[in-house]
Amino acid sequence: MAFPAGFGWGAATAAYQVEGGWNADGKGPSVWDTFTHQGGERVFKNQTGDVACGSYTLWEEDLKCIKQLGLTHYRFSLSWSRLLPDGTTGFINQKGIDYYNKIIDDLLANGVIPIVTLYYFDLPQALEDQGGWLSEAIIESFNKYAQFCFSTFGDRVKQWITINDPNVLALLAYDVGVFPPGVPHFGTGGYQAAHNLIKAHARSWHSYDSLFRKEQKGMVSIAFFSGWVEPADPNSVADQEAAKRAIAFQLDFFAKPIFIDGDYPEVVKSQVASMSKKQGYPSSRLPEFTEEEKRMIKGTADFFAVQYYTTRLVKYQENKKGELSFLQDVEIELFPDPSWKNIDWVYVVPWGIRKLLKYIVDTYNNPVIYITENGFPQSDPTTLDDAQRWEYFRQTFQELFKAIEVDKVNLKVYCAWALLDSFEWNQGYSSRFGLFHVDFEDPDRPRVPYTSAKEYAKIICNNGLKENL
Ligand code: GAL
Repeated sequence: MAFPAGFGWGAATAAYQVEGGWNADGKGPSVWDTFTHQGGERVFKNQTGDVACGSYTLWEEDLKCIKQLGLTHYRFSLSWSRLLPDGTTGFINQKGIDYYNKIIDDLLANGVIPIVTLYYFDLPQALEDQGGWLSEAIIESFNKYAQFCFSTFGDRVKQWITINDPNVLALLAYDVGVFPPGVPHFGTGGYQAAHNLIKAHARSWHSYDSLFRKEQKGMVSIAFFSGWVEPADPNSVADQEAAKRAIAFQLDFFAKPIFIDGDYPEVVKSQVASMSKKQGYPSSRLPEFTEEEKRMIKGTADFFAVQYYTTRLVKYQENKKGELSFLQDVEIELFPDPSWKNIDWVYVVPWGIRKLLKYIVDTYNNPVIYITENGFPQSDPTTLDDAQRWEYFRQTFQELFKAIEVDKVNLKVYCAWALLDSFEWNQGYSSRFGLFHVDFEDPDRPRVPYTSAKEYAKIICNNGLKENL
């Protein structure tokens, strides 16, 4: 199973999850600093990312891991408030620029291509204090930040992701409120945030397109989290429709406006409108784009970036009580097949990734695709021999090979999540996604490869699997 020549093999991390140095050298607080410092058991054992993997001072250790794997790509994110402590270009933190310059330069010196995410959940607290993603003002703040990053790093960075998992962020931060700022706005906040996230992404893509592309010749996209869903009863029309709604609300909600026509999917619009009506709202809780905004949003991504972890079965679940929430708007129930093995929320369903890729090909006109994240957790504590977890990766690579060979998917890059065990948001350090084990009790935070890292290195070295289809 030889992958196409030049296929990109990467691994990913995110600033808050690995860096630590939460207030080092002039960094401003992000919403995750505030949230974790407030305690309240919203994060496992009230753990924080104050130190995390210590990558702010231990970058060279990370680089060793990257070289050990032989990665062709490394995806990391910039901490907005490390660069711009209050979120604006009114004050620029040179120490932050220096840190990321070193990462970028070291990667390039070692032949590793950086994929840089501008924003990965860690909004500067100063901007959250002004309403965060619920406020339209964030669109211009994000655009200015993006321009600052393009102009500072774009001479060397050619692959950009504006926003990570906008769908996860909108839902968890502004609808159910389990991510900072931690205030639920059931059935309304998620849509409002999503609306602003889409416009902020589009605006920054246009900035790149008009101000930087000619000289820098890079690519800009946005990374969507998407699981796959299968109708629980494949013969039930209600379940088939439920599966379509699930994908529409999760993926197409963001991808259709950006890749196709500047507007939300019809099924999302009609579903939220009819729920809102039943609930006595004078208009739909889903905001509308103006015609001008639709033109601005349409076509604002240079490749398709998707993050797949797992699959669920889905069936129709009527929202009988008229409950107010994003999830109730979809009118579905999601659940795993009892035969699937899992750790936490990640069920082992490697074929789901192939189906998802095929769906993207068919729905989005066969775009160039990057898998910007894919991985499987281990519960803490764990051993270095994760042979069982490696099965998840190995089977995933088989499915990717079939996707490329048989389905003709234009897949160019695969990034494993994650390079290191790291701060896993609400789960703190209890869930380990790393290819390298990190000892969070040891002040030196030693990185040690799991079996999966060693096996992944072989795959990269061989550009594929040494087995036949
Ligand atoms: C993704 C998220 C990552 C990582 C991963 C595993 O949704 O972007 O930061 O936590 O899930 O849970």
